[in-house]
Amino acid sequence: MIGKKIQDAFNKQINEELASAYLYLSMEAYFHSEGLEGMAHWMRLQTQEEIAHAMKFFNFIHERGGTVKLQTISADLHKNWKSPLEIFQASYQHEQHITACINDLVKLSKEEEDYPASVFLQWFVTEQVEEEANTSQVVQMLERVGDSGNGIYMVDQALGRRGA
Ligand code: FEO
Repeated sequence: MIGKKIQDAFNKQINEELASAYLYLSMEAYFHSEGLEGMAHWMRLQTQEEIAHAMKFFNFIHERGGTVKLQTISADLHKNWKSPLEIFQASYQHEQHITACINDLVKLSKEEEDYPASVFLQWFVTEQVEEEANTSQVVQMLERVGDSGNGIYMVDQALGRRGA
């Protein structure tokens, strides 16, 4: 049986992951409006990953005999995006925030001596290393090309090759 503190914290993380999906969806919408279909594709896959992350927490709570409580997704995350660089910088910052959330959950699972939760969270610890690396890599690419239309086009092509 899952303890109340872990259950509440995991429910909050479901919300964080779904808010991440919503954030990336708003970014995908911007890329479609700009005709940057490769970046839109990258964001679509990112959105799907975030929903999968939320579902891992959702399933874990149920497997442990807990109750999932879905909460309102904040709309504050959605801006009028202005450029690919701004978007990927925001993505990188957002992933750093999610890493901090996961680290807090690991800490709580140890305090609560919930070993199944600790083991479950290890996957997310590793995943966040990848999430930060992926977004920061795109920031570097975009910084390198600056305002060059050709450069942006090439980054768009590269991101369009992202696999699931
Ligand atoms: Fe679910 Fe991008 O972290």
